[in-house]
Amino acid sequence: MTQPSLYVFPEYFELHPLSEEDVPGVLDGSDAGTGERFMVVDTRAHRSCYLANPVIKSYLELFRQPRAEAAALEELARQAACSPEAIATTVRAFFLRMRRAGLLRSEGADLREEPNQALTPGQVLGEYRVGELIVEKADVALHHARQLGTGMPVVLKVFVLQGPRADRERELFAREFSLMAGLAPHENICRLLSFHPGEPCYAALEYAGGKPIRHGTAEATLSLPERVRIGAEALTALAHLHRHGVLHGDVHSRNFMLTDERRVKLIDFGLSRRSGDAVEASSVPHGGLPAFMPPERIEPGKLSISSRPGDMRSEVFQLGVLLHDILTGREPFAEKVLWRRLAQAIRSQPAPRAVWTPEGERIPAALADVVECALAKAPEERFPSAMELLEAWRAAWPRTARPVRAKERACL
Ligand SMILES: Nc1ncnc2c1ncn2[C@@H]1O[C@H](COP(=O)(O)OP(=O)(O)O)[C@@H](O)[C@H]1O
Ligand SMILES: [Mg+2]
Repeated sequence: MTQPSLYVFPEYFELHPLSEEDVPGVLDGSDAGTGERFMVVDTRAHRSCYLANPVIKSYLELFRQPRAEAAALEELARQAACSPEAIATTVRAFFLRMRRAGLLRSEGADLREEPNQALTPGQVLGEYRVGELIVEKADVALHHARQLGTGMPVVLKVFVLQGPRADRERELFAREFSLMAGLAPHENICRLLSFHPGEPCYAALEYAGGKPIRHGTAEATLSLPERVRIGAEALTALAHLHRHGVLHGDVHSRNFMLTDERRVKLIDFGLSRRSGDAVEASSVPHGGLPAFMPPERIEPGKLSISSRPGDMRSEVFQLGVLLHDILTGREPFAEKVLWRRLAQAIRSQPAPRAVWTPEGERIPAALADVVECALAKAPEERFPSAMELLEAWRAAWPRTARPVRAKERACL
């Protein structure tokens, strides 16, 4: 049997030079004196970041071109001017750890050999024909699929984790869809089509488009009214949740998708919970994308990004970051790639004012004021929920206000 090739997805990783100023203490130990140091940011999982020394960095660089373990071992032995046998045990243990951390993956068709890989394109699962893999993580794989008969495009979110953590994680996975099932339908929220608790355990979701709002608004040439409308749709989705006492839990620009018609669909209810429910607040993990972290959720002096749960005002802050990005094409604190600097900026520096769209249109002061208020450092100075934020947005740009259709009114 040929050995599977391993590789890292280049787009999943960013390598940043790291100084002691960024993580005092962390680098003072055995790593001291090795010269260049790096942090590997895993942008795929959004939440993980790994500290890596030059050795790990060189290993990852090696796998930017897919290659078999044996070939990589030979290359490393050549670099170290020794025989592969001399370093085989240590290097294989390293490869294994990198695979477990999700830093290394098997290539293409070899993915089927991964124990967690659940579905194969072309296979029929329930009433769906499985299509291409969208993304695969340690616990969940997302696939394009089509409903048999109708051909309707859907997305299958499949639970693939095995091992000791599987039961607890499966419960959290199922929670996501029981919460979605309880939501009143809304045109800007991705619809749950069905949930299948068996083996494999999976959910079928309305296809919400191929682009997250981040890419959709960065790549296209959009007029100011179009940017304002997209912002209003994102706010409408969150206002709908807040009106029903639900926190999304993971508000950022990759959890809003844009359909081909540039309509907004909110996805990913993995961290959602009922607002004010103490039991849920303690049992549901609190996550989030670092650049969207509200100041009150940042523990001073910690590298952790998710130590405190948020409330509706925390999500208003996150929506402020999103609106800033939609209007200007930039997240307010985005250039601070290292967590420590990012956290400091979010806690203490005012967000830059939204003045120009990427196309060079001037952003009206009334809209910039709304974004600024949403981004206030103190939660009590922000809009109390997405409902008030949406109202202010529409008042600042009355052209986004449109009559509520009877069908929608029934859902409000
Ligand atoms: N309904 C959907 N339609 C289209 N793409 C989707 C849909 N749901 C998820 N995706 C894609 O899969 C990615 C991961 O899904 P998500 O539910 O956000 O899980 P995660 O918890 O990994 O962030 C999304 O960023 C998006 O690109
Ligand atoms: Mg997501």
